[in-house]
Amino acid sequence: MTRKGILLAGGTGSRLWPITLGVSKQLLPIYDKPMVYYPLSVLMLAGIREIAIITTPEDQPQFQRLLGDGSQWGVSFTWVIQESPDGLAQAYLLTRDFLGGAPSAMVLGDNIFFGHGLPEMLARAGAQGAGGTVFGYHVSDPERYGVAAFDANGRVTQIIEKPKVPPSSFAITGLYFLDGRAPDIAAHIKPSPRGELEIVDLLEHYRAEGSLQVERMGRGFAWLDTGTPGSLLEAGNFVRTLQDRQGMQVGSPDEIAFRQGWIDHNGLQTRAKIFGKSSYGAHLTSVLKE
Ligand code: G1P
Repeated sequence: MTRKGILLAGGTGSRLWPITLGVSKQLLPIYDKPMVYYPLSVLMLAGIREIAIITTPEDQPQFQRLLGDGSQWGVSFTWVIQESPDGLAQAYLLTRDFLGGAPSAMVLGDNIFFGHGLPEMLARAGAQGAGGTVFGYHVSDPERYGVAAFDANGRVTQIIEKPKVPPSSFAITGLYFLDGRAPDIAAHIKPSPRGELEIVDLLEHYRAEGSLQVERMGRGFAWLDTGTPGSLLEAGNFVRTLQDRQGMQVGSPDEIAFRQGWIDHNGLQTRAKIFGKSSYGAHLTSVLKE
């Protein structure tokens, strides 16, 4: 079965208040485009064209206005509501019908990935049959994330959510490739002490049965955080620096759709016109001229 995508665009960004008061964090800009474009681009880079977008009831109209039905990029969006933030693993319960037994790739709406070899890494994860793949990334503040513990042979022995004393510096990023059993397994998870269906409990199930791959993203990769005002600004500066230097775009669903062959020259031209004189529009026009 073809792998389907889940984009979890809920969450208020509580450490960012008051700038997210009244607007979903994932709609804030990272330099020249909305935050949600970046994780969406990752799913599209992975070749995924059927994507469920999960939002709060209040935020859904704003996301719909921004993203439409996906046809402008040759993909299709299914809109799913999460009534209350009851944990990341709940996403698999909410998308059970949408997935219909298919394997999935879920990405969190505030996760930004950049790096040489990313398409190949995504292709490897996407090609996996049974089991799951997640990505470990070395960070200076692992206690803020799900963290992997390793044994002497480098095998993962546990994944722990926000440990006070992190067993390693490898955070598990917000990108999860799981097989078609994920909704069934999620249905058996009990809420944690903080009342959430934790993604790490779902991952622990796969790890315990020996079917979880933890791919390390090396130092050539950037996994950016947008959790605090400072890190939000840094992410924007990072994207700006890269784009200005290379004359290329990070996180452009329009360009990816075009390069994947999901939209044609006319389709991209229409989009370039919409963005007019902005630097984003100018970039799309330059892609057309290549
Ligand atoms: C969530 C997950 C955590 C993961 C992180 C990645 O944490 O619970 O395991 O490492 O996303 O961004 P949150 O950012 O929701 O606190």
